[in-house]
Amino acid sequence: MMPKPRLIAAMLFAFGRFGHAQNADSAEQVQVPQFTADGQLVAPKNYREWIFLSSGLGMTYGPISGAGATDDNPRFENVFVNPPAYRSFLKTGTWPEDTIFVLEIRSSASQVSINKNGKVQTEVAGAEAEVKNSRRFPGKWAFFDISGEARAAKPIPTAASCYTCHGQNGAVDNTFVQFYPTLIETARRMGTFHEQATAIHSASLKSYVFHGKVEGLNAAEGSLRVNGDKVEGWMDAMTMNYKVDDPSVFGNIKPGDAITATVYDEDMVLHKVRVVAKEVTQK
Ligand code: HEC
Repeated sequence: MMPKPRLIAAMLFAFGRFGHAQNADSAEQVQVPQFTADGQLVAPKNYREWIFLSSGLGMTYGPISGAGATDDNPRFENVFVNPPAYRSFLKTGTWPEDTIFVLEIRSSASQVSINKNGKVQTEVAGAEAEVKNSRRFPGKWAFFDISGEARAAKPIPTAASCYTCHGQNGAVDNTFVQFYPTLIETARRMGTFHEQATAIHSASLKSYVFHGKVEGLNAAEGSLRVNGDKVEGWMDAMTMNYKVDDPSVFGNIKPGDAITATVYDEDMVLHKVRVVAKEVTQK
């Protein structure tokens, strides 16, 4: 494939940036992820001009967010997303290619100035980024630690907990839309919201591994017709239509494919559908 003009622009941008650190104009205008020639994400310095999604306070789950925080000094986590991705989400309920998030972690303080109760945000304690780009990353998404003065960062290896926790618990396509109040309704309306991820006891709901052979697709309804093997305790062997949690699977599944998925007590949705064997071409 011919390199896209945007890609070339990104490369020029990256070189320009390292060559002339004072090139503030281009550095201020980043709207899509930029990569250096060796595949590092250029830290987007202007993310505070993007769309603000929400702040979590004192949430415990992540390696950086926990470190150094105390009960008296819980950390804020401010989430920003690039404007083109946000606009696309409002139309489709999911994230397009070249989505980039920044999670900015800030310390907190109280009794600052006239403040008596509650917390205000103080200095930056770290920053992480997350990019969707299926050309670069086989799993579509990659995570980066862009804390400090680093101008660019390599992807965090895919064995890191970022990938598992986001993949399993994010309500929309690897991301925690369940915590972004302005997006929840859009995702529900578009049918992209993974309700399971937000069930209070989702971790304790029993899950099963599902195996089956695809017999048909109905992308409009978000369902697959599958001849499923028996899942002990969940369903007998039978052919039926199942909803899927993530409509993007329709892009790489066709009738005849063997799939596996995760299924849960209390719903009939196929989660995390994966093709295990492509249909053998007819002789
Ligand atoms: C145990 C679960 C968990 C792990 C592990 C985790 N995260 Fe998250 N992440 C979250 C939650 C929950 C949010 C919701 C935002 C918040 O903090 O308010 C989030 C939000 C984010 C966001 C904002 C975009 C989004 O997906 O919603 C980024 C960027 C991010 N995390 C980066 C990382 C990186 C980098 C790592 C690994 C170093 C990581 N996370 C590990 C749970 C996790």
